[in-house]
Amino acid sequence: MKGYRPKILCIAQQKGGVCKTTSVLSLSAAWALRGKKVLMLDTDPQANLTRNILDYETIEKDISLLYRGQESIDKLIRGTPYENLYIIPTRTALNRVENLERSLSTFTALKKNLPEVNETFPYIIIDTPPSLGLFTISALLAATHVLVPVQPTFFCQEGLGDLNETIKEARESNPGLKSVRYFITLYDKRTVISQDLSDTLRKQLGKMVFKTIVHRNIAVEESQYAQKTIFDYSPRSRGAADFKALAKEVEVWLENA
Ligand SMILES: Nc1ncnc2c1ncn2[C@@H]1O[C@H](COP(=O)(O)OP(=O)(O)OP(=O)(O)O)[C@@H](O)[C@H]1O
Ligand SMILES: [Mg+2]
Repeated sequence: MKGYRPKILCIAQQKGGVCKTTSVLSLSAAWALRGKKVLMLDTDPQANLTRNILDYETIEKDISLLYRGQESIDKLIRGTPYENLYIIPTRTALNRVENLERSLSTFTALKKNLPEVNETFPYIIIDTPPSLGLFTISALLAATHVLVPVQPTFFCQEGLGDLNETIKEARESNPGLKSVRYFITLYDKRTVISQDLSDTLRKQLGKMVFKTIVHRNIAVEESQYAQKTIFDYSPRSRGAADFKALAKEVEVWLENA
């Protein structure tokens, strides 16, 4: 345990469709390619991350068992078609946990179990649903770092206040949550709105916004359809370059914050 510093990164944003799942997969894939063992957690009952990387029909054990305390964490970790890249998958039945089993132990299940595997997997990265409900709160209670994707649209930025409040509350119970950062995504350089809102965000949050911008790039969407990472599907695309740059910036932050 000497020198061990947990790195549990939660990607959160209650707005839907803003690139949470895409970032979890692309950042993890970038680090895995560079030899780092990464564990992804799918805590979204939509199971998009799981479907992006595994054959959904083959999943027998899912993250519900962890929330219910019915299986040990190491039995839930699955390999993926990519070296160094692992996942605890979910099935849509996870909805039942949220609807029926909201006890304290469900909220703290990740906090309790993740440190156990953080030495084997130096980076653990959690995908969350588009809500500030049980699964996002449970992830925030376990996280050491929070990364927020922001699409430069009016509604996405409007929602940031609620998210920041939730992060603040989680911090009161989770002193291990050290740092929060933002990045701009789905950026469309042809629109004035993208430019204006990105400038506003940088003015408001300053250095908390990463320099890298993830542009809207069709190869990213296509790669998901092909069930591949962007680096496998189209290594020379703008999307691959953006996520590679973001992965470097995030890594420096994780190692130093
Ligand atoms: N940089 C990008 N360029 C083009 N399309 C993208 C990009 N990033 C994400 N997408 C597409 O946008 C859609 C939403 O992305 P994603 O599923 O990652 O968002 P999300 O925040 O996880 O959504 P949800 O809140 O529903 O979980 C997907 O179809 C994805 O392929
Ligand atoms: Mg998602």
